[in-house]
Amino acid sequence: MAEFNLTVNGKQLSVDVDQNTPLLWVLRDHLKLVGTKYGCGIAQCGACTVHLNGNAVRSCQIPVSSVKDNEVTTIEGLSENGDHPVQQAWLEHDVPQCGYCQSGQIMTAAAFLKSNSNPSEEQIESAMNGNICRCGTYTRIKAAVKTASKNQIV
Ligand code: FES
Ligand code: FES
Repeated sequence: MAEFNLTVNGKQLSVDVDQNTPLLWVLRDHLKLVGTKYGCGIAQCGACTVHLNGNAVRSCQIPVSSVKDNEVTTIEGLSENGDHPVQQAWLEHDVPQCGYCQSGQIMTAAAFLKSNSNPSEEQIESAMNGNICRCGTYTRIKAAVKTASKNQIV
């Protein structure tokens, strides 16, 4: 075990864990930020997506020891009041079904729109391609990303 100092959702936090502990489990089990989900554990589903310095990453694949002073943002920290343009678009399109994959979808979409504020349908499909939704909400996800791209203030 070792102590790791992390910046998560703008707060300085420290955890005492094995250095190989995936960031996903530090967030969920130690920091109680359970909006980030465990799907596959092998980088194949996107349920565990968070931002590291604004980039979408799969937290199941990131050992806590490699986070260092990179800033972690989870779905809980994406906006103060759930009013990020992507979250608003998700509500507008009533995207979730069971909801399990949705925080990962939203975090992927938010990071994508920062890098491409006016994406084509094909670019949206390609950006969201690695995030699996067992409920098949893909059509609504695509529409919501398009809406968010129009409404965003980045
Ligand atoms: S749980 Fe990390 S990609 Fe599936
Ligand atoms: S909404 Fe159920 S897995 Fe995506």
